[in-house]
Amino acid sequence: MLGVCYYPEHWPEAWWADDARQMRELGITYVRIAEFAWSRIEPAPGRFEWGWLDRAVATLGDAGLRIVMCTPTATPPKWLIDAHPGILPTDAQGRPRGFGSRRHTTFSSGAWLEASRAVTEAVAARYGAHPAVAGWQIDNEFGCHDTVLSYGPEDLRAFHEWLRRRYQDPERLNEAWGNVFWSMEVASFDEVSLPAGAVTETNPAARLDFWRFASDQVVAYAAMQAAILRAHSPGRFVTHNFMGRFIGFDHWKLGAELDFATWDSYPLGFTEQRELPDDVRAMFAETGHPDMAAFHHDLYRGVGRGRWWVMEQQPGPVNWAPWNPVPKPGMVRLWTWEALAHGAEVVSYFRWRQAPFAQEQMHAGLHRPDRVRSPGGEEAAQVAAELAALALPDGARAPVVLVFDYEAAWVTSIQPQGQDFNYVELCLRWYEAARRCGLDIDIVPPGAPLAGYAAVLAPCLPIVTEAARAAFEAADGMLLFGPRTGSKTATFSIPPELPPGPLRALLPMRVIQVASLRPGLRHAVAGHVAGTMERWREWVEPGEGTEALARFADNTPALLRAGRAHYLAGWPDAALLNATMRRVLGIAGLTLLDLPPGVRLRRRGDLTFAFNYGPEPWTAPDAGSLILGDCIVPPQGTAVWKA
Ligand code: GAL
Repeated sequence: MLGVCYYPEHWPEAWWADDARQMRELGITYVRIAEFAWSRIEPAPGRFEWGWLDRAVATLGDAGLRIVMCTPTATPPKWLIDAHPGILPTDAQGRPRGFGSRRHTTFSSGAWLEASRAVTEAVAARYGAHPAVAGWQIDNEFGCHDTVLSYGPEDLRAFHEWLRRRYQDPERLNEAWGNVFWSMEVASFDEVSLPAGAVTETNPAARLDFWRFASDQVVAYAAMQAAILRAHSPGRFVTHNFMGRFIGFDHWKLGAELDFATWDSYPLGFTEQRELPDDVRAMFAETGHPDMAAFHHDLYRGVGRGRWWVMEQQPGPVNWAPWNPVPKPGMVRLWTWEALAHGAEVVSYFRWRQAPFAQEQMHAGLHRPDRVRSPGGEEAAQVAAELAALALPDGARAPVVLVFDYEAAWVTSIQPQGQDFNYVELCLRWYEAARRCGLDIDIVPPGAPLAGYAAVLAPCLPIVTEAARAAFEAADGMLLFGPRTGSKTATFSIPPELPPGPLRALLPMRVIQVASLRPGLRHAVAGHVAGTMERWREWVEPGEGTEALARFADNTPALLRAGRAHYLAGWPDAALLNATMRRVLGIAGLTLLDLPPGVRLRRRGDLTFAFNYGPEPWTAPDAGSLILGDCIVPPQGTAVWKA
């Protein structure tokens, strides 16, 4: 169940066999290779040098390793860019982004699509049937370094085509976007400009469509590679490694093109990048926030339709966050076990050995540059030994489900209205509040079936599609909706009946005004639950059959209930959010724990896992028969017991 990312092209060939043997000794099964090796695979146009990669594949395969082969399209070589500079992406100021790192491509470039097809064909034809190749990773981290939206001439042409297909008639586009405002009307699709570089804010409806278009381009690109790989490599899986905290394209759609999802888990880097209160960040700076990895495990289990891996697991300090601490002892082991507890089929570490050169020389690996095992490497070996003594049962559906939507992220980032309205942060906080109750959570897209879940959480869903509305209405558990839900139509305007728009039947109420609240500005809430709203607050006009469970000081509802449906009219602080979550999950009939800030549980079949990210030991209340660890779980400790 363990893997590692390996770069044979970074090391003398004389080391490969020894590295492979040591991987097996450590307990590693899968080795991912070649995602950045284009300049060595094809050093000049059409001149392929397979010899070294053939030997690397043979060496790894002979050692008994299963290879995850990659297409090298995250790093097109210099000769290709020089021949076709139009491949380079263009920033929002209209400047080309240069060669010298990676992902220097736009998905709209015809030359890029052609070159991508050719190199994918070549690699797939060469290794598709190789017995050591278990499957494929397409490209590497689509969208990394802000590379989904590109503003060049080919992007504009492709956007025009996309708009033509979507609207057919420019009049329909004018109508949909509200182009009469500020005389933005166009007489033909070719008159549409890219939504950037204008004097002030461009039309939000145009920006949403541009984002949808760009997202579709990523999905189409992945589908193109997947088709080539499947043709040359039948019976092998095709996957992609997604990122954390990343909303650049619709992962639900891209996931549908894959056999399963994988993602790259860097808990310390992500915690460093999150907007957290100082005391919370200080507490978790060297462990990672306890919901950071877990949230994404649950998200990507959903994206992979139940099947997923961690393709890159942080093994020590990274190099890319503002500060890069060393994980506290035990954390690399804990993160690995946590991924497995959430259902990962494989956890693969990034990377086998720290590179002494180039951009990532400050990034740890399982080994130091001098070939000695790092502390993270020791912990990986410990997990491997522990895993050998333990059979992991299949996981089951969770009792709680959270609806996560990429369009919600786009809408709220295009029109934040308050500069700290961050959709992913809101979802993470709702997720945290539910997990503090000791519950497991599934994450699904809007429109996915919700029947059978005891509770459904929708932290913020501005655009409620017909499918999403039907799924909410068919749900049989308690529903909790958050701010801005139903506040926009599909074409980015305010619904005629006011929010929550299409959810009127479930939530007979109207949101009549909203406020964003600058830091320090807070609106108190009291009633069955209490606390304050920060960042965002709404004024709700309650309709027939509703009950206000809590109110603002001006007596308008802050938490409103209509049968099974609840609406929380703002961005709650931790006290209000925790109280609201406990109330809704409690009436859903779930048994709730009250875990400390740093402790989380997760079930896999009849096993319960406990993870202690906090600074104090934690005593498990009713730890059945222990399989791993102790019922007093120390800081950075993991325990597993059988119910
Ligand atoms: C990932 C990426 C890897 C490496 C790693 C460093 O985002 O896929 O290639 O750069 O980060 O943490």
